Amino acid sequence: MVEKNILEYKAEGISILELSHRSNSFQEILDKTKDNLQQLLDIPSNYRILFLQGGATFQNAFIPHNIDDNKSLSNLVTGTWGAKTYEDFVKIRKIQKIDLDVSQIKDFLEQGTDKYSDMTDYMHITSNETIEGVQIRNFNLINQNLIIDSSSDIGSYKFDWNNVAYLYAGAQKNLGIPGVTISIIREDLINENQNPIYLNLKKLVDKDSILNTPPTFSIYVLKLVTDWMLETGGVDYFEQQSIQNSKTVYSFLENYEDHVVLPIPEYSRSRMNIVFKFKNEMNEDSFIKKSLERNIIGIKGHRSVGGIRVSLYNSIDKSSVEYLLEFMKSFFEEL
Ligand SMILES: Cc1ncc(COP(=O)(O)O)c(C=O)c1O
Repeated sequence: MVEKNILEYKAEGISILELSHRSNSFQEILDKTKDNLQQLLDIPSNYRILFLQGGATFQNAFIPHNIDDNKSLSNLVTGTWGAKTYEDFVKIRKIQKIDLDVSQIKDFLEQGTDKYSDMTDYMHITSNETIEGVQIRNFNLINQNLIIDSSSDIGSYKFDWNNVAYLYAGAQKNLGIPGVTISIIREDLINENQNPIYLNLKKLVDKDSILNTPPTFSIYVLKLVTDWMLETGGVDYFEQQSIQNSKTVYSFLENYEDHVVLPIPEYSRSRMNIVFKFKNEMNEDSFIKKSLERNIIGIKGHRSVGGIRVSLYNSIDKSSVEYLLEFMKSFFEEL
């Protein structure tokens, strides 16, 4: 489909890559992509959807510039990406930082967060810390209005929007290719301000993502991926798939705890990124080398934490997991 449309889009005599962002054809793509996201993620009608450039990293400047100065903001930090967000937010406005070790997440969520009410009109969280493999899916337990970086788990489970003020995600992990970031914003957060235009949430929303040239091709691929997800069974389907896939991999690794360490306690384990280390570090290089020989790519842990990281994004189906496990079994049996 993409190949064909790169050559010619809808017999219009031009490629999808040449399509003007002001054309009716692009407007149709944009509208359909928003409808798809609304259906897929069950987005209530008082939220607006924006497609932006600059990745999730741009949001670290965009968001603090668009929250009223008289509102208080805190950052819950449970890993690398949340820490980077805090570092940028604090350059722009006053922020309260709440550092949580992975062992404290369960108590934090289950004991209620009322004690943070005075200092937090909005709390930023990273629902899935991609590098450490730490996930908070039950963020509805937090009493504050949330701003959520969902870059590495959007579209992989259902949640309730009741305490979500703003959710954003780069499309490239679960929903498409690099180049577009999806922002979903509750209307009460959208206010007039004097920001330069690409930092001005209200202006961007008023112009429906075409205040300037949006990443048209990335939005088009997002439309195709969300079409496919809806046809396949929606978020319910991908949630079941990720429950099954992650359970299979974690259970397998638990059987080999003589050889590996799973550093994240069960409560906070990510279903998207499974991180483990070999007790004997020497095995790591040979594991990665042999996996590459079987065309299993991208399982080396992030350079900041080392170890192995198995990513189970929405495009990874049961047969891919079976293939991986077959390899892992043969590797572990030889240790
Ligand atoms: C959770 C999370 N937030 C932010 C980022 C940064 O995204 P970008 O490179 O699109 O700015 C990443 C990248 O992997 C991520 O996983």
